Amino acid sequence: MATPSFLTAVRESYDTVAADYVERVPPPAELDPLSRAMLAGFAELVRTAGPGPVADLGCGPGRITAHLAGLGVSAFGVDLSPEMIGLARHAYPDLRFTEGSMTALEMRDDELGGILAWYSTHHTPPQWLPAVFAEFHRTLAPGGCLLWGDYVGDERLQPTQGYGRPVSYESYLLPLDRMVGLLEQAGLVVTARLEQEPGGRVKRPHACLLARKPEGPDRAGSCGEAARAGSPPIMGGGRSDRGVDRIKTASIPATTACGRSASTPTPTSTQPRSTPWPPANGARKGNRTASRSLRGLWDQRSASDSEIAAAVFTAHSP
Ligand SMILES: C[S@@+](CC[C@H](N)C(=O)[O-])C[C@H]1O[C@@H](n2cnc3c(N)ncnc32)[C@H](O)[C@@H]1O
Repeated sequence: MATPSFLTAVRESYDTVAADYVERVPPPAELDPLSRAMLAGFAELVRTAGPGPVADLGCGPGRITAHLAGLGVSAFGVDLSPEMIGLARHAYPDLRFTEGSMTALEMRDDELGGILAWYSTHHTPPQWLPAVFAEFHRTLAPGGCLLWGDYVGDERLQPTQGYGRPVSYESYLLPLDRMVGLLEQAGLVVTARLEQEPGGRVKRPHACLLARKPEGPDRAGSCGEAARAGSPPIMGGGRSDRGVDRIKTASIPATTACGRSASTPTPTSTQPRSTPWPPANGARKGNRTASRSLRGLWDQRSASDSEIAAAVFTAHSP
């Protein structure tokens, strides 16, 4: 299947801006205190939750990956951008960094003790987020934790410049409740949320969510939380084993406007679609039916980007 165009734009843009990103975006030590506290709390939870490394998905130049490693976590990084991965490997030669996409992770089911998605999902069009979060659910071990942090809002941004360079990616800022709903629909249990107003270097509202993959209805959850009966995964299950939607990592240049500081892209339109939560039982049944047809599309390999996106959206919308 052809690589979706948004992934190409993100990869090319971040290849273009990689060096400027490192120059312009402050290091983790200069993050606001609450964001640092969320990272520290996440690190403590995954350290105590059990085995399994943490994947920093959309790791960029690897600074947050290294920050987690400094907090005693076994962490590695994955990013779409070969340039970013090159910078990360150069700066942190003792850590593992690989090229890849969070839309189809090259990882086994239940492999990870934790996932960090730190300012890395806002370039994903909303209709693709269910597929991304299904990958999070598939690859997390039962009891494993997710820390998601990113901008929130209700806007689609189409910047032409990011970090002082031309970029072609877009950014999709969604209301926090919608992100919670999408994570829950993927079978993850959201256990904590932090929403922050713009302040300091961060010019937009931003938020963190902590979630975990349930261990099952009868077992205590990890991540320091009591277990809630877990929702079944909606469509996880080994897409990467079938090699679908693999990202070809040919080098390309690119840039963006999403870091924790820097560029302020131009709002162009809103994305007001809301996802009611919790879904009715009927919606869950519908999801499973749609999920089967989605798998069929994936298996065909010939399905177009829009067909896949439409099926994903159907599978996850009540
Ligand atoms: C704003 S940067 C954040 C980098 C890093 N998390 C940090 O906080 O320094 C966003 C990163 O996410 C990566 N990214 C975006 N979409 C991705 C995807 N589908 N799979 C992997 N990486 C992705 C980009 O290549 C970029 O390096």
